[in-house]
Amino acid sequence: MSVIDEVKDRIDIVDLVSESVKLRRAGKSYSGFCPFHDNKRTPAFAVFPESGTWRCFGQCNEGGDVFKFVMKKEGWDFTEALRYLADRAGVELKPQTPQQQEQEEQQDRLGTLLEDAVIFYRHQLLQSPQGKPALAYFEKRGVTRETIETFGLGYAPASWEASMNYFLGKGYQAQELIDAGLVSEREQGGMYDRFRNRLMFAIRDGRGRMAGFGARVLDPEDIPKYLNSPQTALFDKGRLLYGLDLARKSIRQENEVVIVEGYMDVIVPYQAGFTNAVSPMGTALTEDHLRLLKRYTRRIILALDADAAGEKATMRGLEIARQTLDRSDEITFDARGLIRHEARLQADVRVTTIPDGMDPDEVVLRDPDEWRAILAAAKPVVAHVMDTLTAQKDLSDPKVKREIADQILPLIGDISDPIERDTYRQRLARLLKVDERALVSQTPVVRRPTKRKPRIEQAITPLERNATLARSSSQLASDLERHVVSLLLHEPQWLNDLDRFLQKNALNRLDVQDFEHADYQLLSRLIMQSLEQDRMEPDEYVREHIAENLAVLLEAMNEENQKGNQLEERLKEDLVLSLLNLRLLRVNEGLRQMQFMLQVLMEEGEHSLNPYQEMIARYTQLRRLLDTALGSRIQLD
Ligand code: CTP
Ligand code: MN
Repeated sequence: MSVIDEVKDRIDIVDLVSESVKLRRAGKSYSGFCPFHDNKRTPAFAVFPESGTWRCFGQCNEGGDVFKFVMKKEGWDFTEALRYLADRAGVELKPQTPQQQEQEEQQDRLGTLLEDAVIFYRHQLLQSPQGKPALAYFEKRGVTRETIETFGLGYAPASWEASMNYFLGKGYQAQELIDAGLVSEREQGGMYDRFRNRLMFAIRDGRGRMAGFGARVLDPEDIPKYLNSPQTALFDKGRLLYGLDLARKSIRQENEVVIVEGYMDVIVPYQAGFTNAVSPMGTALTEDHLRLLKRYTRRIILALDADAAGEKATMRGLEIARQTLDRSDEITFDARGLIRHEARLQADVRVTTIPDGMDPDEVVLRDPDEWRAILAAAKPVVAHVMDTLTAQKDLSDPKVKREIADQILPLIGDISDPIERDTYRQRLARLLKVDERALVSQTPVVRRPTKRKPRIEQAITPLERNATLARSSSQLASDLERHVVSLLLHEPQWLNDLDRFLQKNALNRLDVQDFEHADYQLLSRLIMQSLEQDRMEPDEYVREHIAENLAVLLEAMNEENQKGNQLEERLKEDLVLSLLNLRLLRVNEGLRQMQFMLQVLMEEGEHSLNPYQEMIARYTQLRRLLDTALGSRIQLD
């Protein structure tokens, strides 16, 4: 049994959930108010001890196992959740290899050095006479003492060797100071403090481990305005988002992240309760950034500078957002709205309009409500671009119309949803006061794959139904999850074939939410990521990036795959059938569980309305689509 299974086995999900949710027993299951969204009227949250899972049937429409619960509640990643639950269950985690241990020790030491540096710079800021102007500056910008602590702010004295001498005195090696990026080497030999007379911002990774520093000038004559740690083993700007460690819990809770330009734009709003902001620290958003964020939410608000440079950064950010989040370029059927929780996983990128010449920190200081309103008024990408391009333009001039249409139409052509596309086209036509048909003929034709109707020859019987009946449905679901993931691990590229098949049948592409077990969710996400990159072979990528704790599981699954020596084609078919069956099982289970929730509601005297009506309709429709897909001949190309 893998460590993961052992932990699951020993943790009682009802006990675990009960610690934060008041549960009421109803038959074999339990119900309560969902801890992840606000609603104290309808008990939409259920725990199913038999399968060891939970689900919210309300706004969240999300569910999972014990790991997923802890991850969502605490904002932790899988490893953290595993560590916590293993400890709680008294399960010992597997020790690491010697190399891993050595590397980790080295990073730990650099990390410790950087933590010491935070303390040193803070001491300089708060306790030393030369730190007074820096402290006054922070105060002027509205930063409180508490925030100085929370964010690890400080001051690097105006000296070439103050910090170096301090750390050498504490027993650190010169090389370590260089490795950590705290001191620099002179070409002719010797070392000096990298940061001098600067305000210091501690930069941590998503888990709160020190990565490096950002340092702002205090003397406006000094350059550059911001100086960061050099690229080190711990500091990689393209992979770090400033503030994520403090923001990620509320990003998950609010299911929304606000991306701002700089350090102060994270810090000052945080004080005022806007705790879900992160900053890519002046660089454009990278794919790595978005991958990082996708773990927490798909709702992204870009609150970047209103000036020209900021506008460009916004556009750049938008482009990357599009590329990363639309994994496939052939979305012919957008299932948005079919099932709420699946639809929500589509990215929703919005853009704010900030008053001219102001940064978010300044807006918040002036009036927090104003900032709240700005965020609330964030617009979808295309709408924002339309408004920006047409502002203060003479829209009666045909040349201007042409220019604007030329810029916006390609964007509209990119939108995958035909209805959304039409809506924007109409809106543009109204805005420019032209006939919509004039615009349509101008829209660049986006090549979309031709839809071939699957030939219905012989219907393949989905799985051996007899075997199916013998096992409980939750056990079967769990087996199917494992089977799907293991087949994908065998050949990650099959995911593309699978997705293509699903879309042809008007079904959503494979999604991590297809899995209820956190470990399979992680593995499937890794498989998806392996196909989004082109630095290495997908299976190599999976091996490289797999969390230590899942490596055991991976090995076990690889072994299973070696054993069966079916024809590859059959395996691919098997993959498709397994997923379809898994979804069908889920739909039926969902309908049954909803029945259960309705029962609970009725017992509580809630006779009048059925809050699940819409969802039941969706499930029923989905079941029809699945049945059709299962009945069609599985054609893979
Ligand atoms: N930045 C950087 N290196 C630079 C310039 C900027 O890393 N040479 C990053 C910093 O994270 C900075 C952000 O880009 O916070 C935005 O830069 P800028 O708008 O110039 O600074 P502000 O954040 O507005 O700084 P302040 O409000 O303190 O003037
Ligand atoms: Mn600023």
